[in-house]
Amino acid sequence: MITKRGAAALFAGVLVAGGALAHGGATGIVKERMDAMSAIGDQMKIIGQMLKGGSVDEARLSAAAGVIAGHGGDALIKLFPEGSLDKPTEATPAIWTDWTKFEAYAGDLQASALTLKDLADDGAGTQELSAAFGTLAGTCKDCHESFRVKK
Ligand code: HEC
Repeated sequence: MITKRGAAALFAGVLVAGGALAHGGATGIVKERMDAMSAIGDQMKIIGQMLKGGSVDEARLSAAAGVIAGHGGDALIKLFPEGSLDKPTEATPAIWTDWTKFEAYAGDLQASALTLKDLADDGAGTQELSAAFGTLAGTCKDCHESFRVKK
């Protein structure tokens, strides 16, 4: 039988291993953008948990969405100089052959994060916030499907 504490330790181990694998030896701009993406992912988790739990802290949600917006748009595309495909990147060369689309997704990410932030600032209800969160999450999925190596 696995004790509660044992299970928690196991889970923590999985998280650490997953992180180490994902970043495995990344340096320079590739590491920078992986770190930025991880930061975005962390904020998404915070927001998702709040919405799922049904107890929304508007200020916290607004701040999290603001951090995501800050990583979108120009800040994001600056992390993808042409041909930056050093291992262990999961970026695909299609980014630079379809740059306009990539740029548009980076813009969508920022715009939808700002929409969510504005809603939180205006004290919108959980339903409205969840819908905006869904739109935001859709931008992650769209871009990853087109421009990130499939696992
Ligand atoms: C404009 C395109 C684009 C958007 C939008 C985008 N991503 Fe990414 N994401 C990428 C690419 C490309 C990679 C692979 C980067 C690499 O490995 O060099 C990536 C990698 C990641 C990773 C893995 C980081 C690592 O450590 O290897 C996470 C986590 C992630 N994205 C989360 C998100 C979340 C959450 C969102 C939405 C809130 C999002 N991304 C939006 C393009 C995007």
